[in-house]
Amino acid sequence: RPAPACTLVIFGAHGDLTKRLLMPALYNLAGNRLLDADFRIIGVDRVDSTTKQWRDGLTAMMQSFTTDPNAEFHPPSIDAAQWDWLAERLEYVQADFTDVDAIRALGEKLPGNAIFYLAIPSRFFAPVVETLGKAAVVTQKEDAFRRVVIEKPFGSDLASAKELNRRVLSVLDESQVFRIDHFLGKETVQNILAMRFGNLIFEPLWRNEYVDHIEITAAETIGVEQRGAFYEPTGALRDMVPNHLFQLFAMVAMEPPNTFDAESVRNAKEQLFEAVTPIDPADAVRGQYVAGTVEGKPMVGYRESPGVAPHSNTETYVALKLHVENWRWAGVPFYLRTGKGLGGRRTEVVVQFRKPPMLMFHNTETDELPPNRIILNIQPAQGLTVELGAKKPGPEMDLTDVQARFRYEDSFAASPNVGYETLLYDCLIGDETLFQRADNIEAAWKAVDPVLQAWAQDGAGPEPYAAGTTGPKGADELLQRDGRTWYPLDGA
Ligand code: BG6
Repeated sequence: RPAPACTLVIFGAHGDLTKRLLMPALYNLAGNRLLDADFRIIGVDRVDSTTKQWRDGLTAMMQSFTTDPNAEFHPPSIDAAQWDWLAERLEYVQADFTDVDAIRALGEKLPGNAIFYLAIPSRFFAPVVETLGKAAVVTQKEDAFRRVVIEKPFGSDLASAKELNRRVLSVLDESQVFRIDHFLGKETVQNILAMRFGNLIFEPLWRNEYVDHIEITAAETIGVEQRGAFYEPTGALRDMVPNHLFQLFAMVAMEPPNTFDAESVRNAKEQLFEAVTPIDPADAVRGQYVAGTVEGKPMVGYRESPGVAPHSNTETYVALKLHVENWRWAGVPFYLRTGKGLGGRRTEVVVQFRKPPMLMFHNTETDELPPNRIILNIQPAQGLTVELGAKKPGPEMDLTDVQARFRYEDSFAASPNVGYETLLYDCLIGDETLFQRADNIEAAWKAVDPVLQAWAQDGAGPEPYAAGTTGPKGADELLQRDGRTWYPLDGA
């Protein structure tokens, strides 16, 4: 059913996020008839441009996606009527984001419901929210909501995240704030909860009695590319761990919420995050890629990339061990890793089970039985893989490991989603389940803070790894110390 009528005000109308993700997502929502006839979009930016120029630019951009296989949104064609429906609802306003008078004037164009989407660099988040407050455009009325969407990065450590929350919540009520983590827009991430709590066969085993350890991997083949200026002060830990990897961790490890409403889900996450022991820097490994070959193509080293300092110590890879001190997970390590310039692109969760209590069978090749694993494939493969031992055909009782697979593409038609459709729609209907609450954000920063502090003080810097490999040796050693190995990046 269509979301209530609303004006979506996008700060950063000329930015990349608006063009590459928000417009395609709105186009898809329009195609699914989920937007009200009175839905409107006002794009705000400092760039001198007219509504017609902005609209024409976006129209050309949407067309260009059809011929760009690397675009997040790559449809065979753009439906003219569907795009026109949206395009005629676009209006451009040239304004400085923190100009109170300009924003007050903008407010006069907003009689009813409004959402302010901050698709702008993070240094503007607090000043813009304060400007919205001073211009009195975010005061909720009984018959009209006012909401603010904030992208990542939400702070750069625990102290700055707390300060940002404080400034935002001095203007807005928590129920008005929608902090986005785009991983939560991914179908397969949401499906982890559906799988765990919509079936009975997983949950009884999902605990320390049966699980040996859990790995969460987000491996990327791309390097830092043109984002050096953003990445240099950020690094892999801040860019991926307290946000995206912690969201995957929450989906995999949280207790069943009482219901699927926002507060229950976010309470369950908070309860989990509170049980995480702040990470010991000795359990953290960082790496930085040097020149190598990725998928057959040469890649320059991180330090040679545009916007990167020649002696940069910014990590492009991080591996960590998390301990969760609660009844379910005590004693089960969670190993997290993410990096750029790696040999394969894979986002997945591997739940590795303990061995059976006695070995009645054997495997002639390895003399050991492979452990059972459940692998939640998030991207590029989407689905679930179960690794099992099965008898090899023949007279001997010999076991070997086999895979049982569920693949999205076999069961569902391909969806053209870019991942922001659900998040935008949920914001329009006021459902905060997939958005981050202030305490969730702070709890995740709290877990990684000791590592950030240790790295800031330690001059050793990251360990080099060649682009196109599986990362630094230290990451393998982190698991070897515990008698374990990572699930191979080129497996499954
Ligand atoms: C972003 C990070 O938030 O997530 C990027 O800033 C990263 O560095 C990206 O590449 C990964 O997202 P996805 O959806 O491509 O897996």
